Amino acid sequence: MLKKEILFEGNEKLIFATEDPERVIIHYKDVAMAFSGIKRAVLRGKGVYANRISAQLLQVLNDNGIPTHFVELTGEREQLCRKIEIIPIEFIVRNRIAGSLAVRLGVEDGHATGHVITEMRYNDDDLDDPFIHDDHALALGLATEDELRRMHELAERANKLLCTLCAKAGMELVDMKLEFGRATDDGSIIISDEISPDTFRLWDAATHERLDKDRFRLDLGDVVASYRDIYERIAKVLENK
Ligand code: C5P
Repeated sequence: MLKKEILFEGNEKLIFATEDPERVIIHYKDVAMAFSGIKRAVLRGKGVYANRISAQLLQVLNDNGIPTHFVELTGEREQLCRKIEIIPIEFIVRNRIAGSLAVRLGVEDGHATGHVITEMRYNDDDLDDPFIHDDHALALGLATEDELRRMHELAERANKLLCTLCAKAGMELVDMKLEFGRATDDGSIIISDEISPDTFRLWDAATHERLDKDRFRLDLGDVVASYRDIYERIAKVLENK
């Protein structure tokens, strides 16, 4: 698929138009950003593993009836995806209380509750992505009731499926951010952003060692080696299916 002009440049990704108006190519940069851009580094190879892991997981979701934007890998740092109309809501699904929620609720990072918590944030940098729930989304016209129901359903199913997959690979999915869009080819709701160590927290199941972007956020080192480890563990599970 021929790559054309840049449609969007983010901190960690580039989105290119293609010769097909319903498809884009997403390029994962070797850049890590945290704390709203306060911390930034170039990490050689990060884009390769974020791209590969995202492809693995989005393909698993596609194969299990959870539609995503992923079509196919097209390069080391690139994948072909369905074009979407963005729905500006971030869904955060949490199996443990970690990160910003642990701070907000005053519990230790990684607090286990036995409950899955789903949060929604209105994706607006100027407003610092405020917390919202369905009523706010409806009032702002961000999505219809049916669309919200569908996004909640897909988020719950994706979380269950990926928890099981990660467990088979000796890892625990602590939390994950999902974004959705309306596919421009048929208008359906699909998962429309990467699912990678940049957007989830993942621990080694036995040692609780952090394998995800917290390694960068907290200066734990070996970020790219850890992303490669995640990729290899998932690949092994998928090979033995
Ligand atoms: O830091 P916080 O607890 O809000 O993050 C929850 C999860 O969502 C983490 O896995 C984090 O990497 C992800 N996240 C994200 N993009 C954001 C905010 C959070 O991928 N803008």
